Amino acid sequence: MKTKKITLLSGDGIGPEVSIEAEKLLNLIEKQFDYKFEIQKKDFGGIAIDNHGIPFPEDTKNSCKTSDAVLLAAIGSPKYDSLPREKRPETGLLELRRELKAFANLRPVMLFDPLLDSSTLKKEILTGTDLMVIRELTGGLYFGKPKGIEVKHGEKTGFNTMLYTESEIRRIAKIAFEIARKRRKKVISIDKANVLDVSQLWRDVVISVSKDYKDIALEHMLVDNAAMQLIKNPRQFDVLLTENMFGDILSDEASMLTGSIGMLPSASIGDGTYPAIYEPIHGSAPDIARKNLANPLAMILSVAMMFKYSFNDKNTYEVIFKSVTKVLETGHRTKDIFQEGTKLVSTNEMGDLVCQNLVM
Ligand code: IPM
Ligand code: MG
Repeated sequence: MKTKKITLLSGDGIGPEVSIEAEKLLNLIEKQFDYKFEIQKKDFGGIAIDNHGIPFPEDTKNSCKTSDAVLLAAIGSPKYDSLPREKRPETGLLELRRELKAFANLRPVMLFDPLLDSSTLKKEILTGTDLMVIRELTGGLYFGKPKGIEVKHGEKTGFNTMLYTESEIRRIAKIAFEIARKRRKKVISIDKANVLDVSQLWRDVVISVSKDYKDIALEHMLVDNAAMQLIKNPRQFDVLLTENMFGDILSDEASMLTGSIGMLPSASIGDGTYPAIYEPIHGSAPDIARKNLANPLAMILSVAMMFKYSFNDKNTYEVIFKSVTKVLETGHRTKDIFQEGTKLVSTNEMGDLVCQNLVM
């Protein structure tokens, strides 16, 4: 019997709804496989602000740090926009990533064939797309100092700093090359080296790391061109390596290749000192919250990633993945991926279907 402690942060908006579907799946896996899950539900994000006055309370932090994995649904609501930055849900998320030293954010862009028609892009362009965005997650503009809004030369001036040390670039580049080794052996590193000094260092360090990975093809691409190439010819990408802010933007863009941002899971991993975080890349979608409309598949696929990366259990990952494929093949769609001729299902119906189609 494998016992795993999971901290579940269902957060805000559609978070609680998609979390219920993840829990359903975990309960089933527990019954069918040799697992025992200790699921600790903790307040995080807006709900934590409501209940404790801060987005990432100490109790939540302790639970996360002593778990085998952290499962996070979504956080945020316009309701908190007027709070000072350090009290907002998003600050809690950045703190979680930093506290758990989760510097490598893996965002696989997986294309399910039955959804080829759901994308706004042409099928011929999309077919065969299979890429992994590897986004640096604890550095760059999100964390660099100095930052702030100050009065300078008589007027308000806002500033952030895109800062990377050599070691930060080196460790994320290594992850990218290691992952590429298990894929199609190609890394495209994204930067803005024609303008930014920090990007020049990024490029230099990635080149130096690549010397230890002679079997992996390395290319560099400027971020503006990368934004274009993702839409023009997504098949050329295998591993897309990039810094925090560029990765935030490019991964939302890449998600649309799959038809909906509601399909994309992610894993945020560190050096193993602390557990990894698994979360859908979508937000809390307050406009559709509590309507049983949200797509739970990104959350469910995040659970799958947890088995693969934290529990070293590729089999359960594949079982979940196959079930999701089956449910899509049989024409079931939540609203975000719905099309004429398919069957519209609710959040909880979609979760039930994934459970029913799980073949152990
Ligand atoms: C993401 C989100 C977050 C980010 C926000 C909510 C802070 O957009 O995970 O991509 O910018 O990293
Ligand atoms: Mg984002």
